[in-house]
Amino acid sequence: MEKYLVQGGLPLAGTVQVHGAKNSILPVLAASLLNQSGEEIRLKKVPALYDVRAMVSILTRLGARVRRDGEDLLLQTADVDCYHVPDTLMREMRSSIFLMGPLLGRLGRARLCYPGGCAIGIRPINLHLEGLQALGAVIEEKDGYIEARGRLRGGEIALAYPSVGATENLMLAAVTARGDTVIRNAACEPEIIDLQNFLNILGARISGAGSPEIKIKGGRRLHGGSYRVFPDRIVAGTFLLAAVITRGCITVEEVIPGHLAALIGLLEQAGADVELTENTVTVSADRLKAIPRVETKPYPGFPTDLQPQLMACLALARGTSKIIEHVFKERFHHVPELQKMGAKIDLSGHEAVIRGVADLNGAVVRATDLRAGAALVLAALAASGESKILGIRHIERGYDQLPEMLRGLGARISREKAAREEMLF
Ligand code: EPZ
Repeated sequence: MEKYLVQGGLPLAGTVQVHGAKNSILPVLAASLLNQSGEEIRLKKVPALYDVRAMVSILTRLGARVRRDGEDLLLQTADVDCYHVPDTLMREMRSSIFLMGPLLGRLGRARLCYPGGCAIGIRPINLHLEGLQALGAVIEEKDGYIEARGRLRGGEIALAYPSVGATENLMLAAVTARGDTVIRNAACEPEIIDLQNFLNILGARISGAGSPEIKIKGGRRLHGGSYRVFPDRIVAGTFLLAAVITRGCITVEEVIPGHLAALIGLLEQAGADVELTENTVTVSADRLKAIPRVETKPYPGFPTDLQPQLMACLALARGTSKIIEHVFKERFHHVPELQKMGAKIDLSGHEAVIRGVADLNGAVVRATDLRAGAALVLAALAASGESKILGIRHIERGYDQLPEMLRGLGARISREKAAREEMLF
Protein backbone atom coordinates (compact mmCIF):
# COMPACT_ATOMS: atom_id res chain seq x y z
CA MET A 1 0.00 0.00 0.00
CA GLU A 2 1.26 3.45 -0.81
CA LYS A 3 0.23 6.98 0.07
CA TYR A 4 0.83 10.50 -1.12
CA LEU A 5 2.55 12.86 1.30
CA VAL A 6 1.63 16.50 0.55
CA GLN A 7 2.94 19.75 2.08
CA GLY A 8 0.17 22.22 1.25
CA GLY A 9 -0.07 25.99 0.93
CA LEU A 10 2.08 26.54 -2.17
CA PRO A 11 0.59 28.21 -5.29
CA LEU A 12 1.13 26.05 -8.39
CA ALA A 13 2.31 27.61 -11.63
CA GLY A 14 3.45 26.33 -14.99
CA THR A 15 2.38 24.24 -18.00
CA VAL A 16 1.33 20.61 -18.37
CA GLN A 17 0.37 18.31 -21.24
CA VAL A 18 -2.39 15.89 -20.27
CA HIS A 19 -2.34 12.25 -21.41
CA GLY A 20 -4.86 10.47 -23.61
CA ALA A 21 -8.40 10.13 -22.26
CA LYS A 22 -8.86 7.04 -20.07
CA ASN A 23 -12.58 6.96 -20.91
CA SER A 24 -11.75 6.89 -24.62
CA ILE A 25 -8.91 4.36 -24.45
CA LEU A 26 -10.96 1.75 -22.58
CA PRO A 27 -13.82 1.45 -25.13
CA VAL A 28 -11.27 1.74 -27.98
CA LEU A 29 -9.38 -1.24 -26.53
CA ALA A 30 -12.66 -3.18 -26.31
CA ALA A 31 -13.43 -2.22 -29.93
CA SER A 32 -10.15 -3.80 -31.09
CA LEU A 33 -11.80 -7.21 -30.51
CA LEU A 34 -13.88 -6.56 -33.66
CA ASN A 35 -10.77 -6.67 -35.87
CA GLN A 36 -10.46 -10.26 -37.15
CA SER A 37 -8.22 -9.31 -40.07
CA GLY A 38 -4.84 -10.19 -38.59
CA GLU A 39 -3.71 -6.61 -39.31
CA GLU A 40 -2.20 -4.81 -36.35
CA ILE A 41 -3.79 -1.92 -34.44
CA ARG A 42 -1.53 0.82 -33.08
CA LEU A 43 -2.85 3.07 -30.30
CA LYS A 44 -0.57 6.05 -29.92
CA LYS A 45 0.67 7.55 -26.64
CA VAL A 46 -1.38 5.38 -24.32
CA PRO A 47 -0.81 6.39 -20.67
CA ALA A 48 0.33 3.80 -18.11
CA LEU A 49 -2.92 3.74 -16.14
CA TYR A 50 -4.09 0.98 -13.84
CA ASP A 51 -7.36 0.65 -15.79
CA VAL A 52 -5.49 0.36 -19.09
CA ARG A 53 -3.42 -2.49 -17.65
CA ALA A 54 -6.63 -4.16 -16.41
CA MET A 55 -8.26 -3.93 -19.84
CA VAL A 56 -5.10 -5.23 -21.56
CA SER A 57 -5.13 -8.21 -19.15
CA ILE A 58 -8.72 -8.97 -20.14
CA LEU A 59 -7.97 -8.72 -23.90
CA THR A 60 -4.95 -10.97 -23.47
CA ARG A 61 -7.04 -13.53 -21.61
CA LEU A 62 -9.53 -13.48 -24.50
CA GLY A 63 -6.77 -14.31 -27.00
CA ALA A 64 -5.43 -10.95 -28.13
CA ARG A 65 -1.70 -10.23 -28.18
CA VAL A 66 -0.83 -6.77 -26.81
CA ARG A 67 2.60 -5.22 -26.46
CA ARG A 68 4.10 -1.82 -25.76
CA ASP A 69 6.12 -0.02 -28.43
CA GLY A 70 7.47 3.01 -26.56
CA GLU A 71 4.40 5.01 -25.53
CA ASP A 72 2.22 3.15 -28.05
CA LEU A 73 0.23 -0.05 -27.66
CA LEU A 74 0.25 -2.61 -30.47
CA LEU A 75 -2.64 -5.08 -30.66
CA GLN A 76 -2.90 -8.28 -32.68
CA THR A 77 -6.49 -9.58 -32.32
CA ALA A 78 -6.68 -12.31 -35.02
CA ASP A 79 -6.75 -15.16 -32.48
CA VAL A 80 -9.46 -13.90 -30.11
CA ASP A 81 -11.53 -17.00 -29.37
CA CYS A 82 -12.67 -16.76 -25.74
CA TYR A 83 -16.00 -15.15 -24.88
CA HIS A 84 -15.80 -15.42 -21.07
CA VAL A 85 -14.39 -12.41 -19.20
CA PRO A 86 -12.79 -13.72 -15.99
CA ASP A 87 -14.61 -12.59 -12.82
CA THR A 88 -11.48 -11.35 -11.10
CA LEU A 89 -10.66 -9.06 -14.00
CA MET A 90 -14.29 -8.00 -14.50
CA ARG A 91 -14.58 -6.91 -10.88
CA GLU A 92 -11.35 -4.94 -11.22
CA MET A 93 -13.14 -2.62 -13.59
CA ARG A 94 -16.91 -2.15 -13.78
CA SER A 95 -16.73 -0.48 -17.15
CA SER A 96 -15.59 -3.69 -18.86
CA ILE A 97 -19.30 -4.42 -19.35
CA PHE A 98 -18.85 -2.79 -22.77
CA LEU A 99 -16.88 -5.89 -23.81
CA MET A 100 -20.23 -7.63 -24.22
CA GLY A 101 -20.99 -5.84 -27.48
CA PRO A 102 -17.78 -6.69 -29.33
CA LEU A 103 -17.69 -10.28 -27.99
CA LEU A 104 -21.25 -10.84 -29.20
CA GLY A 105 -20.42 -9.18 -32.50
CA ARG A 106 -17.29 -11.29 -33.00
CA LEU A 107 -18.06 -14.67 -31.39
CA GLY A 108 -21.85 -14.63 -31.06
CA ARG A 109 -21.44 -15.19 -27.35
CA ALA A 110 -20.36 -13.35 -24.19
CA ARG A 111 -20.23 -14.27 -20.54
CA LEU A 112 -19.44 -11.72 -17.84
CA CYS A 113 -20.23 -11.41 -14.17
CA TYR A 114 -22.24 -8.46 -12.91
CA PRO A 115 -20.04 -5.37 -12.65
CA GLY A 116 -21.26 -4.88 -9.07
CA GLY A 117 -21.35 -1.63 -7.15
CA CYS A 118 -18.52 0.74 -6.43
CA ALA A 119 -17.89 3.84 -4.36
CA ILE A 120 -19.95 6.09 -6.61
CA GLY A 121 -23.04 3.90 -6.37
CA ILE A 122 -24.62 0.85 -7.94
CA ARG A 123 -23.80 0.45 -11.61
CA PRO A 124 -26.98 -0.85 -13.29
CA ILE A 125 -26.63 -2.28 -16.77
CA ASN A 126 -30.29 -2.51 -17.80
CA LEU A 127 -29.80 -0.08 -20.69
CA HIS A 128 -26.92 -2.21 -22.00
CA LEU A 129 -28.92 -5.45 -21.83
CA GLU A 130 -32.17 -4.02 -23.22
CA GLY A 131 -30.26 -2.50 -26.13
CA LEU A 132 -28.46 -5.76 -26.94
CA GLN A 133 -31.77 -7.61 -26.81
CA ALA A 134 -33.18 -5.09 -29.30
CA LEU A 135 -30.34 -6.19 -31.61
CA GLY A 136 -31.35 -9.83 -31.26
CA ALA A 137 -29.20 -11.02 -28.34
CA VAL A 138 -30.67 -13.65 -26.03
CA ILE A 139 -29.60 -12.80 -22.49
CA GLU A 140 -29.70 -15.11 -19.47
CA GLU A 141 -28.81 -14.04 -15.97
CA LYS A 142 -27.87 -16.84 -13.60
CA ASP A 143 -25.48 -17.47 -10.70
CA GLY A 144 -24.26 -13.88 -10.90
CA TYR A 145 -23.30 -14.28 -14.55
CA ILE A 146 -24.78 -12.63 -17.60
CA GLU A 147 -24.68 -14.92 -20.61
CA ALA A 148 -25.51 -13.37 -23.98
CA ARG A 149 -25.67 -15.15 -27.29
CA GLY A 150 -27.08 -14.77 -30.78
CA ARG A 151 -26.42 -13.54 -34.28
CA LEU A 152 -27.05 -9.81 -34.00
CA ARG A 153 -29.24 -7.87 -36.44
CA GLY A 154 -29.54 -4.11 -36.87
CA GLY A 155 -32.36 -2.22 -35.22
CA GLU A 156 -33.60 1.05 -33.76
CA ILE A 157 -32.80 1.70 -30.09
CA ALA A 158 -33.99 4.64 -27.99
CA LEU A 159 -32.02 4.86 -24.73
CA ALA A 160 -34.10 5.87 -21.70
CA TYR A 161 -31.01 7.73 -20.45
CA PRO A 162 -27.96 8.86 -22.50
CA SER A 163 -25.69 6.29 -20.86
CA VAL A 164 -22.05 6.58 -22.01
CA GLY A 165 -21.28 2.89 -21.54
CA ALA A 166 -24.52 1.66 -23.06
CA THR A 167 -24.01 3.90 -26.11
CA GLU A 168 -20.50 2.48 -26.56
CA ASN A 169 -21.61 -1.13 -26.02
CA LEU A 170 -24.38 -0.81 -28.60
CA MET A 171 -22.15 0.93 -31.15
CA LEU A 172 -19.71 -1.97 -30.85
CA ALA A 173 -22.44 -4.61 -31.12
CA ALA A 174 -23.97 -2.92 -34.19
CA VAL A 175 -20.81 -2.77 -36.34
CA THR A 176 -20.97 -6.46 -37.39
CA ALA A 177 -24.74 -6.96 -36.98
CA ARG A 178 -26.75 -7.85 -40.13
CA GLY A 179 -28.41 -4.60 -41.15
CA ASP A 180 -28.10 -1.00 -39.98
CA THR A 181 -28.69 0.40 -36.47
CA VAL A 182 -29.84 3.77 -35.14
CA ILE A 183 -29.24 4.71 -31.48
CA ARG A 184 -31.44 7.56 -30.25
CA ASN A 185 -30.90 9.58 -27.06
CA ALA A 186 -27.27 8.46 -27.33
CA ALA A 187 -24.60 9.92 -25.02
CA CYS A 188 -22.89 12.96 -26.62
CA GLU A 189 -19.59 12.82 -24.69
CA PRO A 190 -16.36 13.45 -26.68
CA GLU A 191 -15.31 9.87 -25.85
CA ILE A 192 -18.16 8.66 -28.10
CA ILE A 193 -16.70 10.71 -30.98
CA ASP A 194 -13.29 9.15 -30.28
CA LEU A 195 -14.83 5.68 -30.51
CA GLN A 196 -16.60 6.51 -33.79
CA ASN A 197 -13.37 7.96 -35.26
CA PHE A 198 -11.40 4.87 -34.26
CA LEU A 199 -13.98 2.39 -35.59
CA ASN A 200 -14.26 4.27 -38.90
CA ILE A 201 -10.47 4.10 -39.31
CA LEU A 202 -10.80 0.32 -38.92
CA GLY A 203 -13.45 0.20 -41.67
CA ALA A 204 -16.73 0.79 -39.86
CA ARG A 205 -19.28 3.27 -41.20
CA ILE A 206 -20.64 5.23 -38.24
CA SER A 207 -22.02 8.79 -38.17
CA GLY A 208 -23.64 11.12 -35.66
CA ALA A 209 -21.37 10.60 -32.62
CA GLY A 210 -21.48 13.72 -30.46
CA SER A 211 -25.17 14.11 -31.24
CA PRO A 212 -28.12 12.23 -29.70
CA GLU A 213 -28.61 10.13 -32.87
CA ILE A 214 -25.90 7.72 -34.03
CA LYS A 215 -26.17 5.62 -37.20
CA ILE A 216 -24.12 2.44 -37.62
CA LYS A 217 -23.86 0.51 -40.93
CA GLY A 218 -23.99 -3.23 -40.18
CA GLY A 219 -22.10 -6.17 -41.62
CA ARG A 220 -18.71 -4.46 -41.60
CA ARG A 221 -15.48 -6.46 -41.49
CA LEU A 222 -12.80 -4.41 -39.80
CA HIS A 223 -9.04 -4.22 -40.45
CA GLY A 224 -6.04 -2.71 -38.69
CA GLY A 225 -5.12 0.95 -38.32
CA SER A 226 -3.62 3.46 -35.92
CA TYR A 227 -5.24 6.07 -33.71
CA ARG A 228 -4.55 8.55 -30.92
CA VAL A 229 -7.42 9.37 -28.58
CA PHE A 230 -8.37 12.89 -27.47
CA PRO A 231 -6.58 14.45 -24.47
CA ASP A 232 -8.24 13.57 -21.16
CA ARG A 233 -10.67 16.43 -20.46
CA ILE A 234 -11.16 15.33 -16.84
CA VAL A 235 -7.42 15.24 -16.11
CA ALA A 236 -7.14 18.65 -17.82
CA GLY A 237 -10.00 20.01 -15.71
CA THR A 238 -8.38 18.61 -12.56
CA PHE A 239 -5.19 20.58 -13.26
CA LEU A 240 -7.15 23.77 -13.96
CA LEU A 241 -8.85 23.31 -10.60
CA ALA A 242 -5.41 22.79 -9.01
CA ALA A 243 -4.55 26.32 -10.21
CA VAL A 244 -7.76 27.63 -8.67
CA ILE A 245 -7.46 25.95 -5.28
CA THR A 246 -3.79 26.94 -4.80
CA ARG A 247 -4.40 30.47 -6.23
CA GLY A 248 -1.72 29.88 -8.85
CA CYS A 249 -1.66 29.89 -12.64
CA ILE A 250 -1.62 26.72 -14.78
CA THR A 251 -1.76 26.20 -18.53
CA VAL A 252 -2.91 22.85 -19.91
CA GLU A 253 -1.53 22.31 -23.42
CA GLU A 254 -2.66 20.10 -26.32
CA VAL A 255 -6.25 20.07 -25.07
CA ILE A 256 -9.55 20.75 -26.83
CA PRO A 257 -10.94 23.81 -24.99
CA GLY A 258 -14.47 23.06 -26.23
CA HIS A 259 -14.42 19.86 -24.14
CA LEU A 260 -14.00 22.01 -21.02
CA ALA A 261 -16.65 24.63 -21.77
CA ALA A 262 -18.95 23.80 -18.86
CA LEU A 263 -16.10 23.98 -16.32
CA ILE A 264 -14.72 27.17 -17.86
CA GLY A 265 -18.14 28.83 -17.63
CA LEU A 266 -18.39 28.00 -13.92
CA LEU A 267 -14.84 29.19 -13.20
CA GLU A 268 -15.49 32.53 -14.91
CA GLN A 269 -18.74 32.83 -12.90
CA ALA A 270 -16.66 32.26 -9.73
CA GLY A 271 -14.19 35.02 -10.66
CA ALA A 272 -11.26 33.02 -12.07
CA ASP A 273 -9.29 34.38 -15.06
CA VAL A 274 -9.46 32.04 -18.07
CA GLU A 275 -7.47 32.44 -21.30
CA LEU A 276 -8.02 30.19 -24.30
CA THR A 277 -6.08 29.48 -27.46
CA GLU A 278 -6.86 26.81 -30.08
CA ASN A 279 -5.30 24.04 -27.97
CA THR A 280 -4.50 25.52 -24.55
CA VAL A 281 -6.43 26.73 -21.50
CA THR A 282 -4.83 28.92 -18.83
CA VAL A 283 -6.50 29.51 -15.47
CA SER A 284 -5.44 31.76 -12.58
CA ALA A 285 -7.43 32.81 -9.55
CA ASP A 286 -7.41 34.49 -6.20
CA ARG A 287 -10.02 33.32 -3.70
CA LEU A 288 -13.06 32.04 -5.66
CA LYS A 289 -16.53 33.45 -5.23
CA ALA A 290 -19.09 30.80 -4.25
CA ILE A 291 -21.28 29.34 -7.04
CA PRO A 292 -24.93 29.33 -5.88
CA ARG A 293 -25.95 26.31 -7.99
CA VAL A 294 -23.92 23.70 -9.85
CA GLU A 295 -25.68 20.73 -11.46
CA THR A 296 -23.87 17.73 -12.96
CA LYS A 297 -25.35 16.62 -16.27
CA PRO A 298 -24.57 14.52 -19.31
CA TYR A 299 -22.28 16.24 -21.85
CA PRO A 300 -22.19 19.13 -22.67
CA GLY A 301 -23.35 19.83 -19.09
CA PHE A 302 -20.93 20.03 -16.15
CA PRO A 303 -19.37 16.54 -15.85
CA THR A 304 -19.90 14.39 -12.76
CA ASP A 305 -16.23 13.40 -13.04
CA LEU A 306 -15.18 16.92 -12.04
CA GLN A 307 -17.76 17.31 -9.25
CA PRO A 308 -15.53 16.19 -6.34
CA GLN A 309 -12.61 18.34 -7.54
CA LEU A 310 -14.84 21.44 -7.91
CA MET A 311 -16.30 20.79 -4.47
CA ALA A 312 -12.80 20.87 -2.97
CA CYS A 313 -12.29 24.31 -4.56
CA LEU A 314 -15.68 25.61 -3.37
CA ALA A 315 -14.82 24.51 0.19
CA LEU A 316 -12.40 27.49 0.20
CA ALA A 317 -14.60 29.92 -1.75
CA ARG A 318 -16.09 33.14 -0.37
CA GLY A 319 -19.72 32.33 0.40
CA THR A 320 -22.04 29.31 0.16
CA SER A 321 -22.28 27.04 -2.90
CA LYS A 322 -24.64 24.21 -3.78
CA ILE A 323 -23.82 21.16 -5.90
CA ILE A 324 -26.59 18.90 -7.20
CA GLU A 325 -25.34 15.51 -8.43
CA HIS A 326 -27.77 14.20 -11.06
CA VAL A 327 -25.61 11.48 -12.67
CA PHE A 328 -24.34 9.33 -9.76
CA LYS A 329 -26.55 10.39 -6.90
CA GLU A 330 -24.30 8.91 -4.19
CA ARG A 331 -21.08 10.43 -5.49
CA PHE A 332 -20.20 12.18 -2.20
CA HIS A 333 -17.72 9.83 -0.51
CA HIS A 334 -15.13 12.60 -0.68
CA VAL A 335 -17.27 14.72 1.67
CA PRO A 336 -16.32 13.13 5.03
CA GLU A 337 -12.67 13.21 3.99
CA LEU A 338 -12.88 16.91 3.08
CA GLN A 339 -14.65 17.53 6.41
CA LYS A 340 -11.60 16.02 8.19
CA MET A 341 -9.62 18.87 6.62
CA GLY A 342 -12.06 21.47 7.94
CA ALA A 343 -14.49 21.79 5.04
CA LYS A 344 -18.05 22.81 5.97
CA ILE A 345 -20.32 20.66 3.81
CA ASP A 346 -23.90 19.51 4.46
CA LEU A 347 -25.42 16.66 2.46
CA SER A 348 -29.08 16.15 1.76
CA GLY A 349 -29.83 13.35 -0.72
CA HIS A 350 -28.03 14.19 -3.92
CA GLU A 351 -27.43 17.80 -2.94
CA ALA A 352 -24.40 19.24 -1.15
CA VAL A 353 -24.26 22.71 0.43
CA ILE A 354 -20.70 23.96 0.81
CA ARG A 355 -20.03 26.91 3.15
CA GLY A 356 -16.66 28.34 2.18
CA VAL A 357 -13.97 28.58 4.88
CA ALA A 358 -10.75 30.59 4.89
CA ASP A 359 -8.43 27.63 5.40
CA LEU A 360 -8.24 23.86 5.27
CA ASN A 361 -5.88 21.88 7.50
CA GLY A 362 -3.70 18.97 6.47
CA ALA A 363 -5.00 15.56 7.62
CA VAL A 364 -4.77 11.80 7.01
CA VAL A 365 -7.48 11.05 4.44
CA ARG A 366 -8.43 8.10 2.24
CA ALA A 367 -9.39 8.02 -1.44
CA THR A 368 -12.51 5.90 -2.03
CA ASP A 369 -12.63 6.26 -5.81
CA LEU A 370 -10.76 7.89 -8.62
CA ARG A 371 -12.20 11.40 -8.66
CA ALA A 372 -12.74 11.59 -4.88
CA GLY A 373 -9.03 10.87 -4.60
CA ALA A 374 -8.23 13.66 -7.04
CA ALA A 375 -10.36 16.03 -4.93
CA LEU A 376 -8.36 15.10 -1.82
CA VAL A 377 -5.09 15.80 -3.62
CA LEU A 378 -6.38 19.26 -4.58
CA ALA A 379 -7.53 19.98 -1.02
CA ALA A 380 -4.18 18.80 0.38
CA LEU A 381 -2.31 21.09 -2.03
CA ALA A 382 -4.23 24.07 -0.60
CA ALA A 383 -4.38 23.00 3.05
CA SER A 384 -1.93 24.35 5.60
CA GLY A 385 0.46 21.68 6.85
CA GLU A 386 0.99 18.06 5.85
CA SER A 387 -1.58 15.65 4.48
CA LYS A 388 -1.36 11.90 3.92
CA ILE A 389 -3.62 10.50 1.23
CA LEU A 390 -4.22 6.74 1.42
CA GLY A 391 -5.86 4.53 -1.21
CA ILE A 392 -3.88 6.12 -4.02
CA ARG A 393 -4.38 3.05 -6.23
CA HIS A 394 -7.82 4.50 -6.94
CA ILE A 395 -6.22 7.76 -8.10
CA GLU A 396 -3.65 6.04 -10.29
CA ARG A 397 -6.44 4.26 -12.19
CA GLY A 398 -6.96 7.52 -14.08
CA TYR A 399 -3.99 9.81 -13.43
CA ASP A 400 -0.61 8.91 -14.89
CA GLN A 401 2.43 10.46 -13.15
CA LEU A 402 0.26 12.75 -10.97
CA PRO A 403 2.88 13.51 -8.26
CA GLU A 404 5.56 14.06 -10.92
CA MET A 405 3.34 16.44 -12.89
CA LEU A 406 2.33 18.36 -9.76
CA ARG A 407 5.96 18.63 -8.60
CA GLY A 408 6.72 20.16 -12.01
CA LEU A 409 4.25 22.90 -11.07
CA GLY A 410 5.88 23.56 -7.69
CA ALA A 411 3.93 21.18 -5.46
CA ARG A 412 5.57 19.33 -2.58
CA ILE A 413 4.10 15.86 -3.05
CA SER A 414 5.71 12.41 -2.90
CA ARG A 415 4.62 8.79 -3.10
CA GLU A 416 5.61 6.80 0.00
CA LYS A 417 5.00 3.40 1.48
CA ALA A 418 2.10 3.48 3.94
CA ALA A 419 3.02 2.47 7.51
CA ARG A 420 1.24 -0.63 8.85
CA GLU A 421 -1.00 1.30 11.23
CA GLU A 422 -2.00 3.60 8.39
CA MET A 423 -3.19 0.65 6.32
CA LEU A 424 -5.75 -0.13 9.02
CA PHE A 425 -6.93 3.47 8.90
C1 EPZ B 1 -18.83 6.50 -17.85
O1 EPZ B 1 -19.37 5.58 -16.91
C2 EPZ B 1 -17.45 6.88 -17.32
N1 EPZ B 1 -16.61 5.68 -17.26
C3 EPZ B 1 -17.59 7.49 -15.92
O2 EPZ B 1 -16.28 7.92 -15.51
C4 EPZ B 1 -18.47 8.74 -16.02
O3 EPZ B 1 -18.68 9.25 -14.72
C5 EPZ B 1 -19.83 8.35 -16.64
O4 EPZ B 1 -19.63 7.70 -17.91
C6 EPZ B 1 -20.72 9.57 -16.85
O5 EPZ B 1 -20.09 10.46 -17.69
C7 EPZ B 1 -16.02 5.24 -18.40
O6 EPZ B 1 -16.21 5.79 -19.47
C8 EPZ B 1 -15.13 4.05 -18.26
P1 EPZ B 1 -23.29 5.99 -17.58
P2 EPZ B 1 -20.74 4.77 -17.28
O7 EPZ B 1 -23.69 4.68 -18.14
O8 EPZ B 1 -20.75 4.43 -18.71
C9 EPZ B 1 -27.18 5.06 -15.08
C10 EPZ B 1 -14.44 8.08 -14.10
O9 EPZ B 1 -14.30 8.67 -13.02
N2 EPZ B 1 -27.28 3.82 -15.87
O10 EPZ B 1 -23.38 7.21 -18.46
O11 EPZ B 1 -20.91 3.70 -16.28
C11 EPZ B 1 -26.02 5.01 -14.08
O12 EPZ B 1 -26.42 4.34 -12.90
C12 EPZ B 1 -15.69 7.28 -14.36
O13 EPZ B 1 -13.62 8.13 -15.06
C13 EPZ B 1 -28.42 3.04 -15.75
O14 EPZ B 1 -29.33 3.36 -15.00
O15 EPZ B 1 -21.82 5.92 -17.00
C14 EPZ B 1 -25.74 6.47 -13.82
O16 EPZ B 1 -26.66 6.97 -12.87
C15 EPZ B 1 -16.61 7.26 -13.16
N3 EPZ B 1 -28.51 1.88 -16.48
C16 EPZ B 1 -26.03 7.11 -15.18
O17 EPZ B 1 -26.83 6.16 -15.91
C17 EPZ B 1 -27.51 1.48 -17.34
O18 EPZ B 1 -27.66 0.43 -17.99
C18 EPZ B 1 -24.78 7.42 -15.98
O19 EPZ B 1 -24.12 6.22 -16.22
C19 EPZ B 1 -26.34 2.28 -17.44
C20 EPZ B 1 -26.26 3.46 -16.70
